[in-house]
Amino acid sequence: MPAKPSRTFNIAVIGAGAIGLDHIKSFKQHPAARVLGLAEVSPERGRDAADEHDILHLVTDYRELLKRDDIDVVSIALPNFLHAPVGLEALKAGKHVMIDKPMATNARDAAKLISEARKRRRRLMVGQNMRFTAEIQTAKQLINQGKLGDIYHAKTSWNRRSGIPRIGSWFTQKQFAGGGCTYDIGVHALDRVLYLVGEFEAASVSGQTYSRLGPLGRGDGNWGRGEIDPNATFDVDDLAVALIKLKSGRTVFLETSWAAHLPDHDLVSSQILGTDAGLMLNPLRLIRPSRQGYVTEELKTSTPLVTENRMVHFIDVLLGKVEPFVKMEESLAVQKILDAIYKSAETGREVRLR
Ligand SMILES: NC(=O)c1ccc[n+]([C@@H]2O[C@H](COP(=O)([O-])OP(=O)(O)OC[C@H]3O[C@@H](n4cnc5c(N)ncnc54)[C@H](O)[C@@H]3O)[C@@H](O)[C@H]2O)c1
Repeated sequence: MPAKPSRTFNIAVIGAGAIGLDHIKSFKQHPAARVLGLAEVSPERGRDAADEHDILHLVTDYRELLKRDDIDVVSIALPNFLHAPVGLEALKAGKHVMIDKPMATNARDAAKLISEARKRRRRLMVGQNMRFTAEIQTAKQLINQGKLGDIYHAKTSWNRRSGIPRIGSWFTQKQFAGGGCTYDIGVHALDRVLYLVGEFEAASVSGQTYSRLGPLGRGDGNWGRGEIDPNATFDVDDLAVALIKLKSGRTVFLETSWAAHLPDHDLVSSQILGTDAGLMLNPLRLIRPSRQGYVTEELKTSTPLVTENRMVHFIDVLLGKVEPFVKMEESLAVQKILDAIYKSAETGREVRLR
């Protein structure tokens, strides 16, 4: 029989939209976690979620939950512009904080979160769920075993053909989202490949962003549960590309789109090149030279490093069982690169990072 956890962590989830529901369900998978509070500005969405998941304290103002001494963890599933301010308040209230991606809408705010977490000695983690997948864990293990040799270049993408998370929602308004597909899905493609390469700090970024189909009302998807404003201006990117030079000299090419005339509806893909072999993801394959020419090895995936459930993992971190799989400094480095893509697109120049 598994040992009974030494304590229970009470969670407050903030935001009961599409991913807030996933936060609730995911925490419920850990025997040491109890979702005690939910904050949601929509009374209907809040009530539905609280009823379905037997959540005791339902509020519309999250500050009421931050004041409670019986809440240990705050899990943020809010529109991007609220990640940093609510995260900061939660840390100041002495809570451990799980934030959905992107960490913030600028690196300055992301850095503030980290310094507050350090000051208060609280755990802070960005829920980069894609990094937890069996495919990434298996790939990382192969890389750790030295199968690729010296890694020098990687290419990563998340491209959707018609997957804007609903035109007119907060996602498509810069004031609420901070950015478009780059912050929404580019962040996943970038985070996972930097994790695999094993290097997060960039020396320079050259990027371009486009907003071509969304403003025409094309490429709409169906993600998200928030309200639609039919009069809102679509002022975020629906496609972005970037060449990122890491401090070691390695390069990463990123491409991401919410909407583009592509053959696949939704494709996440990465490739990592080393001196001994290349690794392709989705599906996971190792490509290496042999005496007969080239061998492509299809690989079975497993979870050798960590649970696939990011919330379960976060509770394990709080129990002191494991170190965070997503380190806050890594998320800051990712945020700096994303910001630099926007800056490079705006200025037309390569952006140098310190
Ligand atoms: N990890 C992933 O794969 C993944 C997937 C989708 C979304 N996300 C992220 O999760 C976050 C939420 O996205 P979503 O898809 O759930 O959006 P959503 O629009 O479906 O939900 C957002 C919810 O927040 C609520 N809200 C807004 N302001 C609030 C406030 N002050 N207090 C309480 N509730 C408030 C809204 O009413 C809404 O219900 C975003 O940052 C997004 O980037 C992550």
